Amino acid sequence: MDYKDFGLVNTKQMFAHASANHYAVPAFNFYNMETLSAIISAARDMHSPVILAVSESALKYMGPELLMGMIWGLNLKPENGVALHLDHGASFDACVNAIKLGFSSVMIDGSKLPFDANVDLARTVAEYAHKYNVSVEAELGTLSGIEDENTHGTESSYTNPDDVVNFVNATNIDSLAIAIGTSHGAYKRKSDNEELRFDILQKIADQLPDFPLVLHGASSIPEKYVKTINEYGGKMSNARGIPAQQLRRAVEMNICKINVDSDSRLAFTAGVRKTLFDAPSGFNPRDYLGAGKQNIYDNCIDEIKNIMGSNNQI
Ligand code: G3H
Ligand code: 13P
Ligand code: ZN
Repeated sequence: MDYKDFGLVNTKQMFAHASANHYAVPAFNFYNMETLSAIISAARDMHSPVILAVSESALKYMGPELLMGMIWGLNLKPENGVALHLDHGASFDACVNAIKLGFSSVMIDGSKLPFDANVDLARTVAEYAHKYNVSVEAELGTLSGIEDENTHGTESSYTNPDDVVNFVNATNIDSLAIAIGTSHGAYKRKSDNEELRFDILQKIADQLPDFPLVLHGASSIPEKYVKTINEYGGKMSNARGIPAQQLRRAVEMNICKINVDSDSRLAFTAGVRKTLFDAPSGFNPRDYLGAGKQNIYDNCIDEIKNIMGSNNQI
């Protein structure tokens, strides 16, 4: 189906508006009814545009029919400013599949490929996607791996500012994810002193004025959720994210999309752990899932207002 049938929009106008008005569009990952409902309610209540991000594994987890059924059930209109985005698409086929389902935006992640192969893959996806007015994100440079354990990822390399103009021109993509020191997961920094590489971001922004730049691995890892998780049986010492102040600085430097998944995972887990602990005889999943959902809603509201600055933009 065409994404317009679902009331979705692509990210082109979203990013133009975000760039002109110095805010970032939040891309929140979801993988079930609770996460989707919390994110969409927060965006609606904040009058914020939002990118609903679905990884390949989340797509598999929900199943395409249930996923698209939930999107249909949102009864969206283009003026709601909602995009459905494939996050970290690993292949041309994954992007085509998402576009055929009704996604309005795809990321083709060839960041681990050699430069020329990354260009070829991104260009091929952009050629296909643009026929359907679907926007395309690609990545240059690599972030640390997607860590779930208490370890730092490996194999990160910063984006080379000298490559970005060639890459964007050769691929015809609509937005570029860059590596300036963020990483996926809950263990992003060894100490509170580590800063993002704003010097690299500045050079990239100078090379690509007004071109939408994207930050992955940008969860702030709110301390209150880590604390609750640890208090109620969890074990997440040393979890540390990107401070809100650094993210806001990045937004001022033309980061137009900020990806957040781990913060929602933490918020949800904190709510579930506390609810189960507080009511040990309870066994109604709606109680603990509801607490997780509420925490995600609260956290999305907080980040929309205090990091993205996307409230009251639609
Ligand atoms: O950037 C990656 C996202 O956090 C998605 O992770 O593949 O576990 O859904 P996932
Ligand atoms: P976090 O792990 O920092 O939430 O990053 C999410 C992300 O980049 C999704 O693509
Ligand atoms: Zn990512």
